[in-house]
Amino acid sequence: MSEAKPRKKGRILTGDRPTGRLHLGHYVGTLQNRVKLQDEYDLFLLVADYHSLTTHPGKEDVLATRQNALEVVLDNYAAGIDPNRVTHYMQSDVPETAELTLLFSMLVTVPRLQRVPTLKDVMHNLHIEEPSAGLLNYPVLQAADILIVKGELVPVGKDQASHVEVTREIARRFNRRFGEVFPIPKAMIPEDTPTLVGIDGQAKMSKSLGNAILLSDDPETVTQKVMKMYTDPNRIHPTDPGTVEGNPLFIYHDLFNPDREQVEEFKERYRQGKIGDVECKRVLAEKLNEFLDPIRRRRRYLEERPDDLIDILRAGAARARPIAQETLAQAREAMGLTSLLHERVIDLYRSS
Ligand code: TRP
Repeated sequence: MSEAKPRKKGRILTGDRPTGRLHLGHYVGTLQNRVKLQDEYDLFLLVADYHSLTTHPGKEDVLATRQNALEVVLDNYAAGIDPNRVTHYMQSDVPETAELTLLFSMLVTVPRLQRVPTLKDVMHNLHIEEPSAGLLNYPVLQAADILIVKGELVPVGKDQASHVEVTREIARRFNRRFGEVFPIPKAMIPEDTPTLVGIDGQAKMSKSLGNAILLSDDPETVTQKVMKMYTDPNRIHPTDPGTVEGNPLFIYHDLFNPDREQVEEFKERYRQGKIGDVECKRVLAEKLNEFLDPIRRRRRYLEERPDDLIDILRAGAARARPIAQETLAQAREAMGLTSLLHERVIDLYRSS
């Protein structure tokens, strides 16, 4: 006899922009949570190719996005996502998202979007002087992603918190104005691990800043990156007392070295000037490589099966699209956006 499937607790939606391979910052910020929650919740993952257009709108960019999308899907499975348990799809394969974005953009003001902190960051990092309307609307598109599948929980890195806040505002405003259609989703942000610092000590690990360790980096590359990691800048000799707090070396040890005793011992000796940076780095590189080994192995397995990746996205779109169509129909209905050919409208006209 087959066992009844356990009831899922609710729906999760999150996604990745297809900018290239994912790194340890993605792992700590969101991948880890996704993997943990995939059994308990109905997990929706999307590859946000519309979002990529907001900063990379050219034809060549779109082609690169296609390639990157597969890398991102690979990285999710390498990190431990089970393709049979999730719904993974390309955002542009669910174009209903675009119509919902249009409807939602009437519910937010331009100054509100201008105050979203990621806008300034992106403009600064990519040297964009004036944002396109599409870039300004980025958080509204993200709200449509989440709400079109009625996502209740959104596991994201800390940098995305402001976008989930916009999503909540839109959902509340829509419901108040037109009736209850949407849940008010909650961001799920890892509390104990804020945004992961880059290997250069900069606030955020990011591929475009060139300070990232990729989940797919080979062992030698990982070792090289760790050996040139930024540590305590005031420490010149291994006998100088060092600072542990806020030191990337120890932030990484805390996250990726499962030998707690060893980490505590290193910290103690580091404070006292009784261990060199080089030794701490050498051990960190080893531990990181042990952590990454199973991820690399799963990646290699799927790399040899590109057709499976395409099938995952095809099946994902086939499941997500009817759900999106249903939600969009509810939103239109709630707003009174019925067709002019609708009988009720014709009756109204006749009787006026
Ligand atoms: N903006 C997210 C990022 O850059 C990616 C994303 C797009 C997303 N749509 C989403 C995340 C919906 C969560 C929910 O990481």
